[in-house]
Amino acid sequence: MTTFTQKHKKIERNITLLAVLGLVTVTIGGIVEIAPLFWIDNTVEKVEGVRPYTPLELAGRNIYVREGCYVCHSQMIRPFRDEVERYGHYSLAAESMYDHPFQWGSKRTGPDLARVGGRYSDGWHVQHLTDPRAVVPESIMPPYAFLAKKELNPGDMGDHLRALKRVGVPYTEEAIEKANEDLLTQVDPMASSTELEKRYPKVQVRDFDGNPDKLSEMDALIAYLQMIGTLVDFEAGEAQELPR
Ligand code: HEC
Repeated sequence: MTTFTQKHKKIERNITLLAVLGLVTVTIGGIVEIAPLFWIDNTVEKVEGVRPYTPLELAGRNIYVREGCYVCHSQMIRPFRDEVERYGHYSLAAESMYDHPFQWGSKRTGPDLARVGGRYSDGWHVQHLTDPRAVVPESIMPPYAFLAKKELNPGDMGDHLRALKRVGVPYTEEAIEKANEDLLTQVDPMASSTELEKRYPKVQVRDFDGNPDKLSEMDALIAYLQMIGTLVDFEAGEAQELPR
C-alpha cells in the first residue's frame, strides 16, 4: 500500500479528523467563491444596448406586475438548445439589471416573454389582450379588454424614476424632470421625439393601442411588451455562441 492511501485511510477512519478536514476544505472553497464579491463593484457584466426603461414602458411594466402576468409567464430563456430554438437567444443577466423587481417568473402556463418584443404587431397584441381566443382558439389566457378602456394614470413618473435611481438605475436628473413629458411624447407620433430618443436609444414612438385619441393602459402595456428583449443586438458581433 502506498503512503498516500495509508494516510487517507487514517482520515477516513477517524470521524473527528474527517469532519475537521472536511470543514477546512469547504471553508477554503467558500472563501474563494465569496470573497471576490466584496471587491468587485458589480456582479453583472454590462452589455451594449441595455438601457433603463422609458417612463411609458415602466408604466406598462407596472400594469404587467399589477395584473400578475408573471404568474403565467416567465421572462428568462435558459441556455438550452430547445429553449433557444423556441424563444430566441438565451437571456443575459444584464438584460434584467434595471428590473426592480425582476420578472423572471417561475411558472410557464403561457410561453416565455423574454423575446416577445417585435414578434407580433401592435394590432395582434390589442386583439390578443382583448380576447385571447380570437387569435389563439385554444388559449386559456384570461381577457384584459378593460385595459383599452382604462385611461393611463401613471401618477408622478418623476418620483418613480427617482426611486429607481436610488436603487442603482442610472436615470439622469433631466430624465427624472422630464419623465411625464417623455411618457406623453412616446405615444404621440406628432411630437418631436429627438430628446426622448437621445435619452432612451431604440425607443419605439407611436400610438400602441390603435386609438390615438386616448392614452390607455393598453398603450403602456403594449409599449412594454414590444420592447422586451429588443435592446441587445445579438446579430452585431456581441452575440455569444449557442451552447452545445
Ligand atoms: C392564466 C395564465 C395567464 C395569464 C395570467 C396571462 N397569460 Fe398570457 N398567455 C397564456 C397562455 C396559455 C398563452 C398561450 C396561448 C395564447 O397565445 O393565448 C399566453 C400567451 C401570451 C402572449 C403571446 C406569447 C407568444 O409568444 O405567443 C403574450 C404576449 C401574453 N400572453 C401576454 C400576457 C400579458 C401581458 C398578461 C398580463 C396582462 C398575460 N399574458 C397573462 C396564459 C396567461
